[in-house]
Amino acid sequence: MSIPNRKRSHVDLAIGGDVAFRSKSTGLERYSFQYNALPEIDLADVDTSTSFVGRPLQLPLIITGMTGGYPEAERINTELAEACATLGIAMGVGSMRAALEDPALAASFACVRPFADAVPIIANFGAVQATRWRSAGRLDEMMQRAVEMTGAAALTVHLNPLQELAQPEGEPEFRGVLETIHQMVGTCPVPLVVKEVGAGLSASVVQRLREVGVEIIDIAGAGGTSWAGVEILRHNSPSDVEHLWDVGIPTAECIIVNRDLVPTMIASGGISSGTDVAVCIGLGANLVGAARPVLQAQHHGGVGGVVDFITSWRTALRQWMFLTGSPTIDELRKAPLILVS
Ligand SMILES: Cc1cc2nc3c(=O)[nH]c(=O)nc-3n(C[C@H](O)[C@H](O)[C@H](O)COP(=O)(O)O)c2cc1C
Repeated sequence: MSIPNRKRSHVDLAIGGDVAFRSKSTGLERYSFQYNALPEIDLADVDTSTSFVGRPLQLPLIITGMTGGYPEAERINTELAEACATLGIAMGVGSMRAALEDPALAASFACVRPFADAVPIIANFGAVQATRWRSAGRLDEMMQRAVEMTGAAALTVHLNPLQELAQPEGEPEFRGVLETIHQMVGTCPVPLVVKEVGAGLSASVVQRLREVGVEIIDIAGAGGTSWAGVEILRHNSPSDVEHLWDVGIPTAECIIVNRDLVPTMIASGGISSGTDVAVCIGLGANLVGAARPVLQAQHHGGVGGVVDFITSWRTALRQWMFLTGSPTIDELRKAPLILVS
């Protein structure tokens, strides 16, 4: 399948398919904030603002990279960017590989550029492809072009060995990836983010990323969208890969094991409410990311659908900040959580 058709089928399955983890949850539901009957703040005192790569955000939220590279994706990315500008949150685009290799596919990424002053945009490509470009001596050029095409304030390189393994057209070729990331840390024109795509990053992986200088890490844990699941549904011989559906480290566990290792931790993977956002921060994340539920909100309600959806998360986040006596996001990170199951 061509890359544009693959991107289209990913979006269609994420919107309409049953692609959640089957027997594994994020683990976030096991935690609850300790109720504080003396919060000593007014609800009106609560301030959800924070920053990402030196840019202000109204909420500690990022719509993580999803799409681009086929014509209909232009509308999706434009509407997501418009919603992010209204909400004051950051936005990632999907893998830019196809558009970097074929400029005819650039429009569905370049459409976010007009929003780049209002929205910290995060460019994106895969670590396997980056390693190929490094071998070809083209990595610096590709990073530069990805940033220019989108007006990006940061660049994400994604690690997805599970997805590459399950994908019919996959390229499970990860030799040399850490050295590629090491090179990117030194030469990327904007801050570099390393993320998984929903199977999680262990402490030993994060330690190795830290050793080569990575400072911003999205743990993208298990419990939300199963990318193995998406690829199994696309596979000609699903029985060869069926057992991979639920592979991954739950989001809550990824946050806990990595919270003292990472200067800026983005927590994502299965975030489905404002309560989840608050719990991720209470467990130690700096920022929280979400993908598939936001795509579904855009599909059903356009810009307004996304704005309403995230505004409901904002309401719950503010309530948890009040109930824990946390006027700021930094204070919420220190609020005590209880293991309830
Ligand atoms: C339609 C779709 C396409 C995606 N494409 C990318 C991608 O190109 N690059 C990337 O880093 N992550 C990609 N992701 C993964 C998400 O950024 C996220 O890490 C993952 O879906 C888990 O988050 P969720 O449970 O909130 O969906 C994609 C997700 C969706 C739903």
